[in-house]
Order: sequence, then C-alpha cells, then structure tokens
Amino acid sequence: MLFNPKPKTRREELYDREEELSLIENSIEKGLPLVVLLGIRRLGKSSLLNVALNELPFRSVKIDARKVYSEFGTVPKEAIGKLILEGYIRGSTKERAKEALKSLRGVRIGGFGVELSVDRSVSIHAILERIDSLGERFVIAIDETQYMRFSNSRYPELIAWAIDELQNVGFILTGSEIGLLEDFLGLHDPESALFGRAHREIRLRRFEGRQSRDFLRRGFEEVRLDVTEEEIEEAIGELDGIVGWLTLYGYNRYLGMSHREALNRLKEDARRLILAEFSALKKLSHRYELAMRAVANGRHRWKEIKEAVELLEGKRIDDKNFSNILNNLVRYGYLEKTIEGYFIPDPLVEHAFR
Ligand SMILES: Nc1ncnc2c1ncn2[C@@H]1O[C@H](COP(=O)(O)OP(=O)(O)OP(=O)(O)O)[C@@H](O)[C@H]1O
Ligand SMILES: [Mg+2]
Repeated sequence: MLFNPKPKTRREELYDREEELSLIENSIEKGLPLVVLLGIRRLGKSSLLNVALNELPFRSVKIDARKVYSEFGTVPKEAIGKLILEGYIRGSTKERAKEALKSLRGVRIGGFGVELSVDRSVSIHAILERIDSLGERFVIAIDETQYMRFSNSRYPELIAWAIDELQNVGFILTGSEIGLLEDFLGLHDPESALFGRAHREIRLRRFEGRQSRDFLRRGFEEVRLDVTEEEIEEAIGELDGIVGWLTLYGYNRYLGMSHREALNRLKEDARRLILAEFSALKKLSHRYELAMRAVANGRHRWKEIKEAVELLEGKRIDDKNFSNILNNLVRYGYLEKTIEGYFIPDPLVEHAFR
C-alpha cells in the first residue's frame, strides 16, 4: 500500500523513483564500490535503499548507524563488525557460517542456531578481507552514515582501504544531514582518505506538484477513498512534495479522519517529532532554535536573521559565531542556503518553529 507509513521494502509499494533505483542498482551491478544517496529527511532514502538491496542479486547487509549510535552513544567497531557478519551469514547453515568465520579474531559462534558474539579485539579490516576472500559479492549499506563520526574507529579510512584493496565488497551510504555526511566522508576534500575515490552520488529530490498529486490520487484509489480535488490541492500546498508527509496524510485519511482532521493531526505529530529531533542541536546552543524561529517567521537574509536573534536574546552576537550557527543549520539540513538567503526546506519544519 502506498500509504503504508513504514519504510517501503518492495518496488510495488514505491511510487516512482525508478531512475534513482536503477542508478543505484546499475552502479552496484557494474562493480562501482561506492554509492552515496543524499536527501533531506522523509524523502524516502531508507525505502529506496531497502528496495535496491532486495532486488540486487548479491548478499547484503543494512546497518542503521543512527540506531547503533542511539544504543551505544558511540559507533563501536565490535557492533559494526557483528552487524556485518550477521548480514553475511544470514541464511547460512551453522557449518557454513563456522567455516566462513574460522579463526577470525574476536568472533565466536555459539549457542543454538548461529548466535554470534564479537568483542573489542575484532578487526573490521580482517572481517572485510575474509568476506572478500570468499569470492562472493557483498554489499554493505549504511543508513544515516554521518552518525559513524561518533567513534574511535576511522570509518572513512576503512572504506577507502576497502575500495582500494578489495574486489567483492561494495558500499551504499545514505544520509539526511547532507553537509555533515559530506564533511565526514570528505570525497571532495584533498585532506581526506576518501578523496578522489570513484563513486556515484545520487541526490533525492522532493516530488514535483504533478507527482505529489498523482501519488495521492493513486494512494486513495488503492484504498478506495473518495477525496476531492480541493483536498488534494490543499494537502500538497501544505506538505509540498515531501513523500513522508504525503504518506502520513494519506494514512490518516485511510484510518478514517476527515481532511481537516488528518492535516491537523499530521501537523501536530510532525511538530512534536521535529522538535524532538531538534533537541540534540538545541542542547549545543539555544541560538539554533532562535535562528530557526527567525527564519520560520519570514527573515531570510543573514543580517535580518541575526538582528532577529539578537532581539530575542537581548544582546549582540559576534559575526563569526553567528555564521557558525547558520552554517551548522545548513549542514544538518534544517536550512537551505540560496542566493536569496536562508530557507527551511520542509514546510512542516517551518510550521514547527513558527
Ligand atoms: N517512493 C515512495 N513511495 C511511497 N512511499 C514512500 C516513498 N518513499 C518514501 N515513502 C514513505 O515515506 C516515509 C518516509 O520514507 P523513508 O523512511 O524511506 O524516508 P527517509 O528519507 O529514510 O526518512 P528519514 O530521513 O526520516 O530516515 C515512509 O512512510 C515511507 O513509507
Ligand atoms: Mg531513513
């Protein structure tokens, strides 16, 4: 169902995105070692990744770096090593798994089935070398890769090494905090380990008006709901082409809410979710929130935003410090910078800060 609110896993549930899907799949099939999928939140990165991994004829694993980080407060190599190996041996018999993992430092198979334990003496280099030597292509997909910066391990160096030295291991990396991910990977930074490595970059865009309209119409047809043109137009006007919000609006209607109720409920839920997501940044400086409020209330130029924040704060702010605040908001994807100034790319984020 198009309005299923979980990340999609099969092509039939995915509206459009055919071009992006075949770019990812072709790149991996042709042996390109690195694909980077970028897009602001709720544009369908995880869904696209799931479908691509399901369709590719290779073994693969999907690691959610945000989840690992929220579990451990860091992204430890033993957790990543364990996830990679679990993905690699999934579906294997115990004998095959044992053979594949034989004498890997820090890795033990025990218990019933194929229960793995991995300790801190593990080497991810050794794991990847082993997987590579077994001769079958293996794809490691990392969702929200920018979270891997919270680690003692230097993952970009590791990936650069794997790209240079291994034949059978490929990577698909996604991220919604685009600037952070770009800085972390450093593909365009001569000082960085991954600089200049062959890769394919795919930027997910929001739907255009006609796609959003078509998406809603098809979704409603699928669940046999009669929805007026005016309602569809208003929903698109409020939610723009952000498929995650369009899906939730459709899902609310499917649950039986009226148009008005569905939109209001969505905006309220979104507000809570967005402010919760923002709280990590807010802890670093209250100025992030003040700047977002200024932009949400119609200030777009650097100087106007700064004046509004100074007014709210009741004191002058150093120019350099303020530039850092705005640059970070751009890096995290909360603001977009254009020649006309700073804008909030998601209407419900704008609503949440108004
Ligand atoms: N092409 C699509 N067709 C139908 N539904 C989609 C599509 N892409 C995404 N969705 C829906 O939109 C919502 C957000 O999708 P998803 O979680 O894949 O996005 P994301 O970019 O990974 O978001 P986040 O940044 O929050 O992790 C989900 O409800 C998903 O089912
Ligand atoms: Mg996601």
